[in-house]
Amino acid sequence: MSGTNSVVIRPAKSLSGAVALPGDKSISHRYAMLAAIAHGSTRLENFSTGADCASTLGCLRSLGVDWERQEDFLVIHGRGGKLQPPAAPLDCGNSGSTIRMLSGILAGQEFISELTGDASLSRRPMARIIQPLEQMGARIESSDAGRPPLRVTGGRLRSIDYCLPVASAQVKTALLFAGLFAQGTTRVEEPVQTRDHGELALAAFGAELDRSTRQATIRGGQQLHAINAAVPGDISSAAFFLCAAALFPESEISLPAVLLNPTRARLLDTLTFMGLRITLEQVEERQGELVGTLRAQGGALNGARISGAASAALIDEIPVLAAIAPYTSEGIEIRDARELRVKESDRIASLTKNLAVMGAEAEEFPDGLRIRGGQPLRGASVDSFGDHRIAMAFAVAALRARGETEIRGADAAVISYPDFFRVLETLVER
Ligand code: S3P
Repeated sequence: MSGTNSVVIRPAKSLSGAVALPGDKSISHRYAMLAAIAHGSTRLENFSTGADCASTLGCLRSLGVDWERQEDFLVIHGRGGKLQPPAAPLDCGNSGSTIRMLSGILAGQEFISELTGDASLSRRPMARIIQPLEQMGARIESSDAGRPPLRVTGGRLRSIDYCLPVASAQVKTALLFAGLFAQGTTRVEEPVQTRDHGELALAAFGAELDRSTRQATIRGGQQLHAINAAVPGDISSAAFFLCAAALFPESEISLPAVLLNPTRARLLDTLTFMGLRITLEQVEERQGELVGTLRAQGGALNGARISGAASAALIDEIPVLAAIAPYTSEGIEIRDARELRVKESDRIASLTKNLAVMGAEAEEFPDGLRIRGGQPLRGASVDSFGDHRIAMAFAVAALRARGETEIRGADAAVISYPDFFRVLETLVER
């Protein structure tokens, strides 16, 4: 998606108030896809409001899945395993999750489907799903060098034992979804632990799977059953408010019903280490996912070094952490995060460019960047590069800059959080 409109952010003194976050994007995609192939009608509360999850719903509609919005719920009528051949290419928009995870399901359907997306999605690597899904017996043609559009010829699948070469929850989930349609038991192993929403969602819909650290196995031929669920608030969206709160010692914010799954909540450890005071209340489990109320109070703003498994765990939060890095006392260094280069934009390049425009130096590496602390930022005109997380990260950085900041292409935020700029203003004190 390439954003066109601009938003101007004025400096703030602190953040205060409470925000109920839209449903987690990763979980919303998975619940929608599993609901589509389950038996019965699934009722989902707090489904993600983002355009990415709307892309998933649009593709499902084209695959013969009926769904409708009823008051505060999304109701998805499952087709019990068999989808309908689509009449036209499936438009995945900007969504890597849609194209990769849906391919896992389409690999097991006895028809041909084509998946396309916007300019950004068309640059993203798909060999990581093409190779294992072809080993399982699907045929997947791609445009050039393994990029979308994809043409998936699905059918009878055989199980595989697969060790992921890159840590990717999207790929892991795609293979577990395909494993449902395969003969035998599929085993997926990952190099470092990634988010486990795929495993938890499959279990919630009634699939049996065996799990141990960094691996999951699933038996083919299992039937899924509809669920009623409330999607926990998106912690990757919460990240923007938490980092904004961290910029001001006077801040005090509260975020009810946020996802606290340990494979997603590494940000809370990082921000606590950096000096934000965080408390958790009313923690409970929903469909295997940990959820609770997060309260955060500003404090010190120390630096951090993020590398190894932490980089995979924080992959979606690194943009906002890097954007506030110049305000920290010691700076932030990020390594082992090469994957940032193949997200909605090359996030290492996008971050370095915008930080430079706002007056901060960042040293770029193939797998990360280092940003010195104690570099005050000045208001400037920065670009979202059509990337939702870059647009929102620099809105946060702008809150402590000297002067106003223009975010060009701010509408990219619709991908995960359409209401972000409005909600941010409700929290800001000037
Ligand atoms: C996601 C996994 C991550 C993440 C993306 C959502 C998921 O991508 O960056 O925003 O829902 O599984 P990769 O699987 O490419 O690491």
